Amino acid sequence: MADQPVESSPSCESSSPCQHSVSCHPLEPRRGFLAQVGAIVIGGLVGLVPFVAGTLCFLDPILRKRDSGTGTDGFQRAANLAELPEDGTPERFTLRADVTDAWTIYRNRVLGSVYLRKIGTQVIAFNDTCTHLGCKVDYQASNKRFFCPCHQSAFNLDGEKQNQTPPRNMDVLEVEVRGEEVFVKYQNFFTARPDKKAI
Ligand code: FES
Repeated sequence: MADQPVESSPSCESSSPCQHSVSCHPLEPRRGFLAQVGAIVIGGLVGLVPFVAGTLCFLDPILRKRDSGTGTDGFQRAANLAELPEDGTPERFTLRADVTDAWTIYRNRVLGSVYLRKIGTQVIAFNDTCTHLGCKVDYQASNKRFFCPCHQSAFNLDGEKQNQTPPRNMDVLEVEVRGEEVFVKYQNFFTARPDKKAI
């Protein structure tokens, strides 16, 4: 009987393995690895974009400059000129504003109070906080002076201290008269020290 020709089956050990089967391609493992890495990188980027956007959105109120309620130039409307006595008698006014604290807006919050004096065309403003330990200073019309009931600090109409209790004069604030309106740059200062240092 004549010998039947034996058909050789494809084998990875063949001299030309790539001609027989895709699974025998030597580059296949590397392609698979690169595809996985690519998928991971793209997936990471796709997830990163909303994460960064969300984080920036979350932190935006913190990164933004806080509004202390005093407006962009720091001045706050305090009174109308017509409200000030012509004879220079001090009048106390409360300053209010919307205050932004990170995520929250507080409407019409009290910033503090000031004494205003109109002297001719000029307006003088004093912070009404006692420079001794921070109580509120009253105006005594009968004595024409400012007086603090806590430890008896006294100041004259120009805010100059009249006894040894307060460490310095009353704190003068910047004033701008815009038309008929009086604006004050409201600030608080450290108490119990001879120099005027803003908080
Ligand atoms: S706090 Fe005003 S006298 Fe002490």
